[in-house]
Amino acid sequence: MAGYIVALDQGTTSSRAILYDDRARPIEIAQQPTTLHTPKAGYVEQDARQIWQTQISCAHDVINQAGLLATDVTSIAITNQRESIVVWDKQTGTPLAPAIIWQDRRTTSYCKNLARDSVDDVAMHIQQVTGLRLDAYFSASKIAWLLEHNPKIKARAASGQLAVGTIDSWLIYQLTGGEHVIDITNASRTLLYDIHKLAWSEDLCARFDIPMNILPKVLPSDGEFGKTKKGLFAKQIPIHAVLGDQQAALFGQGCLKPGMAKNTYGTGCFMLMNIGQIPKLSEHQLLTTIAWQRKAPINRVDNLSISDIVQSGKRMIQAPASFFGREVTYALEGSVFMAGAIVQWLRDNLGMIKQSCDVEDLARQVDSSEDVVLLPAFTGLGTPYWRSDIHASISGMSRGTTKAHIARAALEAIAFQTYDVLIAMQKDSPHPLTELRVDGGAANNDLLMQFQADLLNVPVLRPKDTEITAKGAALLAGLKNGLYDDQTIKESWQVDQIFEPQMPSDRRAQHIDKWQQVIAKALMEV
Ligand code: G3P
Repeated sequence: MAGYIVALDQGTTSSRAILYDDRARPIEIAQQPTTLHTPKAGYVEQDARQIWQTQISCAHDVINQAGLLATDVTSIAITNQRESIVVWDKQTGTPLAPAIIWQDRRTTSYCKNLARDSVDDVAMHIQQVTGLRLDAYFSASKIAWLLEHNPKIKARAASGQLAVGTIDSWLIYQLTGGEHVIDITNASRTLLYDIHKLAWSEDLCARFDIPMNILPKVLPSDGEFGKTKKGLFAKQIPIHAVLGDQQAALFGQGCLKPGMAKNTYGTGCFMLMNIGQIPKLSEHQLLTTIAWQRKAPINRVDNLSISDIVQSGKRMIQAPASFFGREVTYALEGSVFMAGAIVQWLRDNLGMIKQSCDVEDLARQVDSSEDVVLLPAFTGLGTPYWRSDIHASISGMSRGTTKAHIARAALEAIAFQTYDVLIAMQKDSPHPLTELRVDGGAANNDLLMQFQADLLNVPVLRPKDTEITAKGAALLAGLKNGLYDDQTIKESWQVDQIFEPQMPSDRRAQHIDKWQQVIAKALMEV
């Protein structure tokens, strides 16, 4: 079968489209930046129209750049920044407010008040139902905030004219000309979705005062999302796969077996480990999330056979969707809010470098950061601390500190945060982590990757194609439409470089100790 897949990758700072051929090779890419607005401290917004316009324009561009016609394209796949929300009028499709982005912290006190005012331990209840935490990062409090603060939105909700969705949902609505649906991995990031029952939680919607009729219909990651509306392309193209960007990266990295993990170094850093068909709740501040729901391979559910499930009544209750129809795979996740964004801060706010990639050369001008530690709590700290009240700082500077020391400390901060996540993951998971697959822009930084391997003391594997997020979505779409098979999946992941740990253990311990002291001080100060 011949054909091409267009993967739309709507990220926090750009919209991209990548065209894949019938062997899942990327052949064209188009990218347009999107603008983040920060009108007040803690607010992070985007224009939903710009998200759509840049995304559709990139989709047209890749097809044109390749000299193809829309009739050559068999599927669209979508992957997107998660948790961010858009609200729009169901009839007209007009956005009713700027999109509230995942980094937005305006609802921190809303979440605290909800915990304070609840008669039960709402945070624990939320973790049991959703696998997540009561935190402003997720969508629920953002939706609640809009309903509470915008009378126009509240009125539309009351009259049944309001649609709410994550970015995938918004793009699908625009692409299809009216489908109000969401993929299950994105639903699992809203704080409103029951990851065991695989349904919106009535109880959580009530607690956040969110009417259920404004929420989209939840579909499997390879579900029936519809076709593009007439006139958008020369033919109506079906949408065959939709996944949140971190879940797409896990799939694209080939982490299809329990115990396999990846770390994506984007705006933030997101480490996900495949934990199979049983949704284990974290005891060490990680998140449990849906990795994907897709058509099950015949007679097998990854490494869990159907007879295992049948023999275990308990397992059947915990993972009903893994038996009939499409199976659900779960992941443990550690979310770090600032990774590549630290380098952008050096570039845009301090003017220390012209381009992000210059940071490596600058950092290499010194052998070590000496005592300098950059604590990148610009939007609080995510896993495993979950503290939004901590501020960023640079400590340990002396008269001899240079830009190079700060650049090196910035890269080290990315690796230290990943180290903290990995420690939590090793405590939670029955599978010892024997390697870490990496992707995202900063994964191309050799200095960072070597330091990462040294700190973690496990090999870090960088694939040849680090555009793994879009590829993950494209692979799933290709599996659904028959363009790809298991062999394509195998061939699509090839190692570029393995960073083996080299640092002596006493040196590693010194680094970790330095970081932990800074963290301990910051946690105590607030
Ligand atoms: O959870 C937020 C994440 O999906 C954003 O990813 O790649 O846009 O930084 P990215």
